Amino acid sequence: MIQNMTEAALAARENAYAPYSGFFVGAALRGESGRIYTGCNVENASYSMGICAERSAVFQALASGEKRFRTLAVSGGRTNEDAKLIPCVPCGACLQVLSEFCSPDFPILLADGVHKLSDFLPVQFNLSSLSQFGCHRDER
Ligand code: THU
Repeated sequence: MIQNMTEAALAARENAYAPYSGFFVGAALRGESGRIYTGCNVENASYSMGICAERSAVFQALASGEKRFRTLAVSGGRTNEDAKLIPCVPCGACLQVLSEFCSPDFPILLADGVHKLSDFLPVQFNLSSLSQFGCHRDER
């Protein structure tokens, strides 16, 4: 299972579009249905318009109607060899997006093994943070 997920992330990494950083990332997100959604980083000449592999996978899953997830695998690096050996920790923005849909113990598979979301993001701004301020949420 872990191997399948990592292989899916490495395969998605092959599609990364990263001519500016030269850093290629792939992500594989397993939904509660068992289906795997993949994403890769896509950069842009207008630098800030780029998107990370992890958010790309989350949005792909959401657009397919899945919003509960079992696990995420991430593989990143300049070379395929690096991506297999060196852990690529999701950036803060991606961790925040993941925290919208995943619990703190959500497993994240990196090159050095299994971590959990709360290892990287111990606290998050979420729906309960908003309710503390009396803000209401759309139940969709
Ligand atoms: N990147 C990801 O896709 N995921 C990460 O976890 C870290 C960074 C991308 C963003 C950018 O295209 C490139 O890697 C260098 O930061």
